[in-house]
Amino acid sequence: MIQIAIMGFGTVGTGVAKVVAENARQIERKLGEPLQVKAILIRHFKDGPYRQLMTDDFKKIEEDGDIRVVVETIGGVEAAYAYTKRALAAGKHVVTANKQLVAEHGFELLSLARKKKVNYLFEASVGGGIPILHPLTQCMAANRIDEVYGILNGTSNYILTRMVRTGAFFSDALREAQAKGYAEADPTADVEGLDAGRKICILADLAFGRQVRPEDVPMEGIAKLSLRDVKIAQRAGYRIKLLGRAVRLPGGGRTAYVAPHFIPEENPMAGVEDVFNAIMVRGNATGDVMFYGRGAGELPTASACVADVMEALQSSPRREEIGWDEDSSGFEDPQDLETRYYFRIEGSLTDAAMAFGQVEVLSEDGETAFLTDPITGHDAVRQSHSLNVLACMRVLD
Ligand code: HSE
Repeated sequence: MIQIAIMGFGTVGTGVAKVVAENARQIERKLGEPLQVKAILIRHFKDGPYRQLMTDDFKKIEEDGDIRVVVETIGGVEAAYAYTKRALAAGKHVVTANKQLVAEHGFELLSLARKKKVNYLFEASVGGGIPILHPLTQCMAANRIDEVYGILNGTSNYILTRMVRTGAFFSDALREAQAKGYAEADPTADVEGLDAGRKICILADLAFGRQVRPEDVPMEGIAKLSLRDVKIAQRAGYRIKLLGRAVRLPGGGRTAYVAPHFIPEENPMAGVEDVFNAIMVRGNATGDVMFYGRGAGELPTASACVADVMEALQSSPRREEIGWDEDSSGFEDPQDLETRYYFRIEGSLTDAAMAFGQVEVLSEDGETAFLTDPITGHDAVRQSHSLNVLACMRVLD
């Protein structure tokens, strides 16, 4: 019998216990032994079938030599960081879905895991149930990764889909996403782009092999997005999606950012709806490879956690290819990247043309919505300086 502990018992933690119980036969067949949840760390005990496993004393997990893997689903940094360090120091593998902790302290925690000859695995931290970190670091290991971009926040994508399909108000769609267990405890992280930002940092760390610090990555979410732009995009053959994007630059540097984008509807990203996420990885040998699936929710995220538990137990001694260099130099301003831009201005086509030269008009009715030729983010700011800008976002071509 292999015993594990779960720290935190919200949406993901509960899902982990369910997957371990419901898929017990398949898991045992693959591990050669049954897997059992021995303890659940939780501050406020909940009634139900797991009540007798609950404890609020981390020492009971830390000092229990029978517990070989700890699944951290507390979220946030403070307690999760402290307990993860102590669990690794006690020689236990740690598995997590906590993107904030991995993005901010992943290098240190991986170093501690290496020192203690255990695994720190976090497949569930990006893309929920979609296998992405394993393919990126294993199946595509022979590539130089040139770009990774994707729809990385299920809550934002759910809200955008509801706005397009039913004209739902932002706040109603957000409430639905919360009720379905997609949103973070504080949903500002979802709608302000921070959650997608943490995920693109982890993808960039692994893709480029160097630390990308969250504080260097500009993150803009969908909170200020207007239904008007959603409709203009749709009528012009585009969809608005929140993308995280990490790019290797020609000079050897790299950059990353999160922002809403206009995406042509023929791009497969445009058809990714509801809570689904999609991630495109461009390798210099493979070309574009796309990953798609449920990016949030109880069972998809738990599936990735439990698979990591199984892998932690089977990898002997540990997964060396999961890691990156602490050196964060060479990170450049994403405003240097050139793309077409969408603008909606209070003004006429003449105003738009005076600022940007030739533009493609999408709508004109007192306000003017248009697309520019490819320009850098710096040019987009400089050239629109004299305009009354109501909305501005990049186009993904
Ligand atoms: N709040 C996150 C999302 C959960 O909506 O994508 C999965 O990381």
